[in-house]
Amino acid sequence: MSYELSVNGRRESVDVPGMTPLLDVLRDELSLRGAKKGCAEGRCGACTVRLGDRTVASCLLPVAVATDEPISTVEGVAAPDGPLHPVQEALLECGGVQCGACTPGMVMTLCDLLEADPDPDAQSVRQALVGNICRCTGYHKIVEAALSAAAALREAR
Ligand code: FES
Ligand code: FES
Repeated sequence: MSYELSVNGRRESVDVPGMTPLLDVLRDELSLRGAKKGCAEGRCGACTVRLGDRTVASCLLPVAVATDEPISTVEGVAAPDGPLHPVQEALLECGGVQCGACTPGMVMTLCDLLEADPDPDAQSVRQALVGNICRCTGYHKIVEAALSAAAALREAR
């Protein structure tokens, strides 16, 4: 079956069974491999993308229900050929990226948080990240990066 999607502002057409997870469509059909398949059970956050105005676990979302709202992936966070997004910059600067498996999902969740709350405290950041598992960093540097990115974004306003 053919489905029309809006991904990072581009119209895309894919021909797959309707129950195919959005994550598989992004990675296998559209070659957008930023979102990662960690658990494939909705528990690790590595596959997080944005659908409309909310983040979703794309490993659990059938493509058939992702056609009505715009999809944003980590590939669309920074402007093409532009600098990294402040969240990406801060994660690198603060040492919040080690193996990187969790990073695309972290970026999507943190961008979502900072859009809703431009001045979060550490507790709010930790709460927002409750569905994003990182096995490497111990989270402290990721929280630090989120607070640093929030400050940079406020300053840029
Ligand atoms: S791969 Fe989707 S939540 Fe783990
Ligand atoms: S940096 Fe390795 S899982 Fe987070």
